[in-house]
Amino acid sequence: MRRPMVAGNWKMNGIQAEAAALVSRIEQGLGEVRRAELVVCPPFVLIPVVAEWLSGSRIAWGAQNLSAHKSGAYTGEISGTMLRDFGCSHVIVGHSERRALYAESDMAVAEKFRAAQNVGLVPILCVGETLAEREANETEVVVARQLDAVVGMAGIAAMDNAVIAYEPVWAIGTGKTATPEQAQSVHAFIRARLAQLNATVAERLRILYGGSVKAANAQQLFRQSDIDGGLIGGASLDAQEFLAICRAAG
Ligand code: PGA
Repeated sequence: MRRPMVAGNWKMNGIQAEAAALVSRIEQGLGEVRRAELVVCPPFVLIPVVAEWLSGSRIAWGAQNLSAHKSGAYTGEISGTMLRDFGCSHVIVGHSERRALYAESDMAVAEKFRAAQNVGLVPILCVGETLAEREANETEVVVARQLDAVVGMAGIAAMDNAVIAYEPVWAIGTGKTATPEQAQSVHAFIRARLAQLNATVAERLRILYGGSVKAANAQQLFRQSDIDGGLIGGASLDAQEFLAICRAAG
């Protein structure tokens, strides 16, 4: 049985006082969350605040991005080693906003995935198609290409220390959630594709769904056999909503 996971992607939101208030409210309501592994991913500068509040708690924390480089002349960048130094255990790589707004290619995402694992961070690798790609029946082609770039560089065994998040771009922040059937079908596709390389690794891998997950739709999504939890954007900024999603994950 795969352990469910819920990760919060705060995106570029919050200042110190808000971050502290949010994590302390989440902490207080954790009692009813049974098995799920929980992670919050605040903006870089809020990581120390979150780390202080969450150290010793069952909630882990991570970042939303990292540099593919170890150190050096990369103005404005943050390395995996720096994230580890602040207690991060996870890092989101290849979020569609990074791919679309910061031109991160499949190769760049694969480099970041490897850089994360090199320092012991668990990458949460995001994949997903745009609306145009879905309408052109290219969902599986796009998701396969995004996956293959990473597996080609890091190897299938690397997926044992990773999490995948399927996030259809058209569902992110739009209020338009994929139906449980639509999501399940892509999750099953991802697992089957990786199973061709290593069935055991594919079976163990957690595949999260992301895109307008809320308390009201979480249970239906998480009930699907290949959906192992969620990557939550907007709803992760509201403690009660986030906790309800965590409870739905189990
Ligand atoms: P959303 O974002 O839940 O606000 O749609 C999900 C994400 O971008 O990870």
